[in-house]
Amino acid sequence: MEKFLIAGGAELRGTVRIAGAKNATLPIMAASLLCPGICTIYDVPDLRDVRVMCEILTLMGAKVEYKDGTCQLDTRNISSAEVPENLMREMRSSVFLMGALLGRLGRVKVSYPGGCAIGPRPIDLHLKGLAALGTRISERHGYMLAEGRELRGSDVHLDFPSVGATENIMMAAVRARGVTLIRNAAKEPEVVDLQNFLNKMGARIRGAGTDTIKIEGVPSLGPTTHSVIPDRIEAGTFMVAAAMTKGDIYLENVIAEHVEPVTAKLREAGAEVDTKGEGIRVTASGRLQAVDVKTLPYPGYPTDMQPQTMAMLSGAEGTSVIIENIFANRFKHVDELRRMGAQIKIEGRAAVIRGVERLSGAFVEASDLRAGVALVLAGLAAEGETVIDNIYHIDRGYDSLEKKLKGIGAKIERITDR
Ligand code: UD1
Repeated sequence: MEKFLIAGGAELRGTVRIAGAKNATLPIMAASLLCPGICTIYDVPDLRDVRVMCEILTLMGAKVEYKDGTCQLDTRNISSAEVPENLMREMRSSVFLMGALLGRLGRVKVSYPGGCAIGPRPIDLHLKGLAALGTRISERHGYMLAEGRELRGSDVHLDFPSVGATENIMMAAVRARGVTLIRNAAKEPEVVDLQNFLNKMGARIRGAGTDTIKIEGVPSLGPTTHSVIPDRIEAGTFMVAAAMTKGDIYLENVIAEHVEPVTAKLREAGAEVDTKGEGIRVTASGRLQAVDVKTLPYPGYPTDMQPQTMAMLSGAEGTSVIIENIFANRFKHVDELRRMGAQIKIEGRAAVIRGVERLSGAFVEASDLRAGVALVLAGLAAEGETVIDNIYHIDRGYDSLEKKLKGIGAKIERITDR
């Protein structure tokens, strides 16, 4: 098992280029299945989740070439509508292959995705939306079979603005007959990027980025090329890294509006964030101040930044409260941060963090992607040496993390045995 070994205390200084967004790339790759042809996608991050998606698409009959951030997807021959169980388990987000395969082949068989480290992740909203378009869904032996050769546009009201459900329904609706309205849709920038990709394929979608998305079904689509938007969570992670280490980091390839919630909190905590130029510069000199944070759907504070923010506030002056509103069980990093000296109490969905002067290095384990990177940040700011186990979780979502961190002065090594 690979681990990170971090010597804490270095001030991070320099420039980092942010990669394309994982959460935009995965649905776009799935959407390439919607029509036969060759799609070229640029700025695809080199991540374990992306490699798994390449593997899944290959098993379905696509020819996938992925090199130097460019992914070419040849979907002229799609022979399978079944997502293998092991890969479905490996990457829960493969559930949005349902919408794409329904749009292309009229049927799809996937295993039930089950829970994950950050809590139960039901797909009822996906299924309700697909059923509203005329999909028949049956569940047997842990598998779901969805069939619908003649999908019809419909009004879908989501009980919660789920990102994945919004994307899944969009993909199924582009080839349906008539108009689909998704109300209470997710407004995340990745949904807008999917809309842009689908419209370049010939779809007629308006409204992504607002809470109502209108999709007029079209009879056919064609292949296209697309550059994925920058990863706002990777950007947010480096912004927090600068603030926590009293560093000075300039981020390239970032959209300031997408990280606005993080910018606002960092300023409130006492860091300086300059968003005037092309990129974003984050600097901090003194100790950060405690702040309160509530995670919410976009444009609220992202749940995917909650663990990193908690690591930061563990060393801030005063008491902070974080309320996690999106996922029920997203506090797995708390025990590990406590091992590093953090003083955190959990009460239901709230975490009360009493800032300590300095975290101290320890042996800790990553339980999921963002929890893992939060421990990396804690290790960078801590006194002494930190070893982080199970870093395969971090490789799911960060392209060249240790290389980028080393480039700005961090003392971090990937080790295989310790
Ligand atoms: C996406 C992101 C993930 C991020 C999350 C919230 C991808 C690949 N992943 O995940 O990184 O943390 O958005 O910003 O884009 N829910 C239901 N029923 C459903 C679907 C969701 O109850 O059918 C609930 C979930 O349990 C969760 C909440 O809705 O509590 C938000 O989930 P959702 O927005 O769907 O997240 P994902 O699309 O899975």
